Amino acid sequence: MPQQVKILAVVFVVALTALTVVRYISVPDTFGDLGHYRAAAVDSIAVLPIYYAGERACLDCHDDVYDDKTQAKHASLACETCHGPAVMHVEDEDSLPHIPSEREHCALCHAFQPARPNGFPQVEFAMHNPLDECIDCHDPHAPLPDLSEADCGACHGEIARTKAVSHHAELACERCHTVPDAHRETPRQVRPSKPSRRKLCGECHDRSSSADDAIPRISQTEHEPEYVCWQCHYPHFPEAR
Ligand code: HEC
Ligand code: HEC
Ligand code: HEC
Ligand code: HEC
Ligand code: HEC
Ligand code: HEC
Ligand code: HEC
Ligand code: HEC
Repeated sequence: MPQQVKILAVVFVVALTALTVVRYISVPDTFGDLGHYRAAAVDSIAVLPIYYAGERACLDCHDDVYDDKTQAKHASLACETCHGPAVMHVEDEDSLPHIPSEREHCALCHAFQPARPNGFPQVEFAMHNPLDECIDCHDPHAPLPDLSEADCGACHGEIARTKAVSHHAELACERCHTVPDAHRETPRQVRPSKPSRRKLCGECHDRSSSADDAIPRISQTEHEPEYVCWQCHYPHFPEAR
């Protein structure tokens, strides 16, 4: 038998003996009583303090919020996902839980990230109404916004922001677009009108117009008559030069 194999056999026997000894000394008493784990672990976990009350506990006093939430898009979120552990509050009403009103909180789940599942509602954090708190428009317990009251800028943010710093800042969107109420509910099916004729711009800009004198004038019949005005002037940010 080669020398190496003898040495290897000795090492193997020593290692096996060491392992057997260590196992008998160090395995906890209750190991294996209930399964492949330390049975006493159940008791030591049970004495840990409880932090989360579970949302059934909230039902006793906040059934209104509970009902709102369970019928809305946030039904799958537990109250304490947002409000934090609330056992203290359930035991003592005066110890109030956290209220996460800042934009960053909602961003944890809704800020756009390519890795999120397809179809999960996400917004571009820096672009989606950056000057307001999310909860100004979204009730956190029933987050779908009431679109019947939505401002045009809630959906057409880019256009509204552009117009707000333009010469047309004072013009209401409805001055040039006729918008049926249903457009806010089903925007792709019910569409507003779009201007189709130069005459609309002429109402304020033609020499013959009786509008405010400060508005710059052109002659509709002489100023580039072959084209519609918005082929050259972007209507939401018109520039003359
Ligand atoms: C025993 C009744 C009771 C239970 C149970 C209870 N609350 Fe409350 N909660 C109150 C009272 C009372 C207030 C104070 C209401 C007020 O100030 O208008 C309050 C206020 C709150 C507030 C507002 C805090 C603030 O700063 O205004 C939040 C958030 C809240 N509770 C969350 C919870 C959650 C989450 C649960 C379940 C884990 C829960 N509550 C369970 C009684 C209860
Ligand atoms: C998506 C996060 C989120 C979830 C889930 C959530 N809340 Fe809230 N909650 C908020 C925010 C944000 C506010 C602050 C609203 C405000 O100031 O307008 C709030 C406010 C409250 C208030 C204060 C008064 C009120 O009605 O606005 C109570 C009470 C409350 N939540 C209880 C609950 C309970 C109970 C649940 C579970 C049934 C729950 N919340 C689930 C985020 C959440
Ligand atoms: C812990 C993660 C989480 C947090 C925090 C959270 N949400 Fe949500 N939100 C969800 C889930 C999950 C849905 C349901 C998605 C679905 O239906 O596919 C949802 C749905 C929504 C929807 C409905 C979108 C749609 O078109 O269906 C809006 C709006 C929304 N949340 C806004 C908010 C706002 C505002 C906040 C902050 C107050 C917030 N969310 C905080 C997880 C979260
Ligand atoms: C000025 C009002 C306003 C503010 C502020 C606002 N939203 Fe919205 N949000 C809306 C409106 C209106 C819609 C619906 C637009 C649509 O369905 O195309 C919407 C849609 C959403 C959606 C659904 C997107 C989808 O693809 O289905 C989510 C998620 C959302 N908002 C989250 C947020 C979060 C998070 C914040 C804060 C960081 C926020 N919103 C701030 C008005 C607002
Ligand atoms: C709930 C979100 C929402 C609101 C609120 C909203 N829109 Fe829209 N709007 C849309 C969507 C979505 C489209 C379709 C965009 C597309 O197909 O590219 C659209 C299209 C349009 C169009 C183009 C129509 C076409 O045929 O090309 C105009 C003009 C318009 N909206 C004006 C407005 C005006 C003015 C308001 C305010 C009075 C408004 N919208 C409010 C979501 C909205
Ligand atoms: C001075 C008149 C005028 C005003 C005010 C105006 N629009 Fe327009 N809008 C137009 C014209 C003109 C077009 C282009 C029509 C075309 O290309 O056929 C247009 C096109 C659009 C379109 C189609 C997409 C695009 O960019 O071409 C949308 C959406 C729209 N407008 C939304 C709005 C919203 C929202 C407001 C208010 C914030 C607004 N408009 C204010 C004149 C106006
Ligand atoms: C309700 C009246 C009104 C209508 C309709 C209107 N405008 Fe204007 N327009 C104005 C006002 C007000 C100004 C700004 C005058 C000032 O700066 O004092 C202006 C300014 C302009 C300017 C000059 C910008 C500059 O750089 O000085 C252009 C170009 C213009 N509009 C193009 C259009 C076009 C194109 C349309 C049609 C799509 C249109 N306007 C429809 C009121 C109107
Ligand atoms: C072929 C491109 C073109 C078309 C189409 C066009 N414009 Fe202009 N517009 C210009 C240019 C370039 C200027 C600046 C040079 C000038 O004053 O001629 C201008 C200037 C203006 C001015 C500013 C005049 C001043 O005195 O400051 C107004 C207002 C104006 N246009 C409105 C309109 C209206 C309304 C229509 C449609 C009836 C229209 N434009 C169609 C190219 C166009």
